[in-house]
Amino acid sequence: MGEKTLWSGGRLSSNIDQVMANLNNSLPIDKRMAAEDILGSLAWAEAIQQAGILSIEELKVIQDGLKQVADEIASGSIQFLPTDEDIHSAVERRLTELVGATGGKLHTGRSRNDQVVTDFRLWVKHNLPVLQDKIRDLQLTLTNRAATEMDCILPGYTHFQQAQPILFSHWFLSHFWPLERDHSRLNNLLNRVDECPLGCGALAGTTLKIDREILAKNLGFSRVSENSLDAVSDRDFVCDFLYAASMIAMHLSRMAEALILYSTLEFGFVTLSDRFSTGSSLMPQKKNPDSLELIRGKASVHLGQMTTMLANLKGLPSAYDKDLQEDKALFFSAFDQLTISLEVMTGVIETLTVNQERCRDAINMMALATDAADYLVDRGMPFREAHHCIGKAVLKAEQLNLPLEALPLTEWQAISPMFDSSIFDVFSLENAIEKRNAIGGTSKQMVRTQLEKAQQLLNRK
Ligand code: ARG
Repeated sequence: MGEKTLWSGGRLSSNIDQVMANLNNSLPIDKRMAAEDILGSLAWAEAIQQAGILSIEELKVIQDGLKQVADEIASGSIQFLPTDEDIHSAVERRLTELVGATGGKLHTGRSRNDQVVTDFRLWVKHNLPVLQDKIRDLQLTLTNRAATEMDCILPGYTHFQQAQPILFSHWFLSHFWPLERDHSRLNNLLNRVDECPLGCGALAGTTLKIDREILAKNLGFSRVSENSLDAVSDRDFVCDFLYAASMIAMHLSRMAEALILYSTLEFGFVTLSDRFSTGSSLMPQKKNPDSLELIRGKASVHLGQMTTMLANLKGLPSAYDKDLQEDKALFFSAFDQLTISLEVMTGVIETLTVNQERCRDAINMMALATDAADYLVDRGMPFREAHHCIGKAVLKAEQLNLPLEALPLTEWQAISPMFDSSIFDVFSLENAIEKRNAIGGTSKQMVRTQLEKAQQLLNRK
């Protein structure tokens, strides 16, 4: 009973127990790195040929065999066996079936410890740009919406209380920049991950005459890892990714939270497309923003994955421990989930309707109280005093049950003789918007400038 393994019949006399094999098997997850495993093996075969382990003929045999294994994997014709505990053992097993005993020479001087992390780093190098493109898609959509909603004014909130009016375009772009930081965080990760651990052996380095610089270059890495003990167990790049993923998920979640609120009957600032909404099985009138709620919910999963990986690492002594096998499941799951969340958010933003009238009607002119204070400041009053005067005007309007802009001039003048009838000109949303005209402000001119900068960033590549 039990399963035959790479080491069966040597030091260990019996096969491993079936339940142990179940625990040990990582093939369903790490077969995703098959292409990288083959690349790593091709480069390793060349390196050990240079080191005198393989003859030119043997190298050719191994190269042809590996290419055949690659084809079988790509076409899906490969038959994985229950005894293949991971992609590395599966590839080696199949290679040896195809080319015979020569296949058994490939693993000379190499360990799965340096092999797995080489494959993993290569996979990240190859695939992270795909995720970055998803970020770019969402950023592009945000800039498109910013361009089309330039005339829409909505209330801006702090503490979820109306604060000052803003352009909806400014709101859309406020979600562009966090994604820009996310994109550059992934660039940093690409730089970190660009280091070749192959040639570190199990933990202490290899006895073979391997030029690790050339090996790294052949695999497309720009540098080699400096310490073999560190290299085989360094999973900082996994944590870096899970942190970057959590940040992206958190950014999406904040966007989702605002849109969920803005799409309620009470707010009505936006209407979500039916393509990204669901109904209720019971209540016929319901249209639920499930897309956004799911995105918000997934953010918590991302946070958990980041914490899980850090917890996994914290107790490990240097060099490889099998605990590390959890790394890829966490990474791939975060990668896949984030891809979906980004795609869905892009769809939501692309298809939502902005209800311009509702946005504007929702603004209480009280949101221009700061502008009224500025009016007094323009006439020479210290801001603190002006703040106080407008506070009094707001209170008076409330007592008289009037909107602030309808407070009679006599009441304004009772508060300060500096007021004249031009105070009523302050209560223009357009003016309030246009006055925020320093870089980063919500004036149309500045939002246009901001939009151009955003578009330039997107066009750069
Ligand atoms: N499947 C393993 C992993 O993902 C490969 C490394 C195994 N190394 C070992 N010494 N058993 O981590």
